[in-house]
Parts: sequence; C-alpha cells; structure tokens
Amino acid sequence: MASIGKDIAEAIGLLNEGHVIGIPTETVYGLAGNAINTDAVAKIFEVKNRPSFDPLIIHTNSIDRFSAYVSEIDERAFALAEKFMPGPLTLLLPRKDIIPDLVTSGLDKVAIRIPQHPLTLELLSQLDYPLAAPSANPFGYISPTSAAHVNNQLGDKIKYILDGGTCQVGIESTIVGFEAQEAIVYRKGGLSIEEIEGVIGKVKVIDHSSSNPQAPGMLKSHYAPKKQLLLLPENQSVRNDGKKIGYLGFQHYHQEIPQQNQLLLSPDGDFREAAKHLFAYMRQLDAMDVDIIYTDLLPEKDLGRAINDRIRRATVKE
Ligand code: TXA
Ligand code: MG
Repeated sequence: MASIGKDIAEAIGLLNEGHVIGIPTETVYGLAGNAINTDAVAKIFEVKNRPSFDPLIIHTNSIDRFSAYVSEIDERAFALAEKFMPGPLTLLLPRKDIIPDLVTSGLDKVAIRIPQHPLTLELLSQLDYPLAAPSANPFGYISPTSAAHVNNQLGDKIKYILDGGTCQVGIESTIVGFEAQEAIVYRKGGLSIEEIEGVIGKVKVIDHSSSNPQAPGMLKSHYAPKKQLLLLPENQSVRNDGKKIGYLGFQHYHQEIPQQNQLLLSPDGDFREAAKHLFAYMRQLDAMDVDIIYTDLLPEKDLGRAINDRIRRATVKE
C-alpha cells in the first residue's frame, strides 16, 4: 500500500525522481507525474492501465505560467480562465513543443487546468514543471474522491498519496476547446454549461453518451462500478427475479426497494451536493450486499447534465 500524508516535500522529492503519486484536486484525485518527463508520463499510462491514445490533462498553479506550455490563448479561453481558474475547468489550447507527444497523444492541443485545492496549488507552485494527471482510478472504473479510494485501487503501484481530504466538487473538470466559430464543451463536468455561457455566450456541447467519441479517450462506457448499474424503467415496477436490488437516487427513496439498500445523492435536491456524493455512493453501493443497482437521471440542467453524463456512461456496458 502507498503511504498517505500531507508532506509536500516528500511529494516533490518523488516527483523530481520521476515517480507518480496521488494528488488531491477539487474535482477528483489525480495520478500525477512530471508532464515534461516522458518516462514519468509513460508510468502514468502503465499504472492506470490506460491506452496511450487517450491524452492527459496538465496541471499548473497560475495563468501566468500557461505561456510556457501553450503558444496561444484565445480571447474566449482567457475570459474563462480569468473567471473560473483555479476551478473545475480544463481548456484545450495549442501546445508548445515542450509538451511531449505522449501527453497529448500527438494532438496539437494540450488540455490544461488549475485545480482549486490549497495543498496541490502549493505543490504546483514549488515545481518548475507542470503535472500530467488523469483521474487516479484504473482505466474505465469510477474516479476517486478520497485518498482511501486511490489507495484501494492503485496503492500497490504508487509510493505516496498526498491527502487533501474529500473532493469538494466530486466530478471531473469541464473540458472546453475552441474553433474559429464556436466554443465546444467536450466533456461536461464540475463547471456548468450555464456558468460558461454566462461568460462567452452559447457553446456547442458534445454528447458522448449517445454518439461516437469525438476526441480520443472520450469513450462511451466509463466511470463504471463493477456491479450492473441500470436506469430505472420509467413507470414500471423494478424487475428483481429474486435478485437483491440497490438504488442510487437523487432526492427520494424508492418505495419498492428496501431502504437500507438505498443512497440518496441529495435529499434537498442540491446538484452540487449530488455531484460531490456521486462517485463515493457508486462505490458504496458496489460494496453493499446487492446484485443490481438501479438509478435515475437528474433534471437535465446545471450540474445535473454532468451527473447524468456520468450515470449514462456508467450504465453502458461494452
Ligand atoms: O478533473 C479532472 O479533469 C481530473 C483531475 C485529476 O484534474 N482529471 C481527469 O483526467 O479527469 P482524465 O485523464 O481522467 O480525463 C481527461 C480527459 C480525457 O477524456 C481525454 O480524452 C481528454 O481529457 N483530453 C485530454 N487532452 C486532450 C486533448 N488534447 N484533446 C482532446 N481531449 C483531451
Ligand atoms: Mg478519468
């Protein structure tokens, strides 16, 4: 198992030696390594068992440092960065040569973000390189929102996890890219479309749960628990065939399912609270004595859209 602690010096020592470690962010925990050290980046793919055609996000601590890694910051990107960074936003920007091909899977744009987490911002401020970090879960499984989640899944493959407590946002960052005529949301996430449109106007939103992936790695089946997660059939009784049923609900318990097998994302109907609980509750239900987990979609607005995206992908089986 990895050691878990709050020791930034320890984290820096390991990163400088080319190791990968777990780091907290406000969205989910990351599996971090020196983004400009190709060996460290290769280790990230190996530990996560991630296909190398799926590019990584780089993390840094200030907008001032972007110019070291990207060649151009579009006006719309800059407006979003000023308003929402640090925060759950990732921008796709033209990369400089210093960023290895392995990070971007050979694409000419690099994904970059500033995580809003005090410990990780402090860590990043003391490094003279950005950190490449995918979510710290084995490829295809639910993202981790605590140091213990990381340790359970990857603890035997990494030495250290920087412990920043429970992630406050709970779902991954929103990824935004720019074409001449339009801004495009490639992944819905912790920053809502409404907030983005409030700054740069209408954006195009790519829906990955119903179409083919438009960008490498944006695969349909993702974020999945081990047990079967099914959308509740509308206006029908739950089918149980003698199986034990669990339920992941938004606000209300399901009348036909034993209450001890149910978890509610937010009894008050608060999208932010629901996002914060989503992955941890999927894990809890996965560990409960149930055979099938039913769930429901949330209203399709605000963070409900990103939460529904994760639920839809978790219910798709390849
Ligand atoms: O909240 C987050 O973004 C977390 C934390 C750790 O920062 N990170 C995260 O990374 O979710 P990951 O690797 O699990 O997801 C990154 C997504 C992938 O779907 C990848 O395809 C996309 O970003 N991506 C990265 N670089 C890209 C690029 N140059 N063009 C298009 N998509 C890109
Ligand atoms: Mg991920």
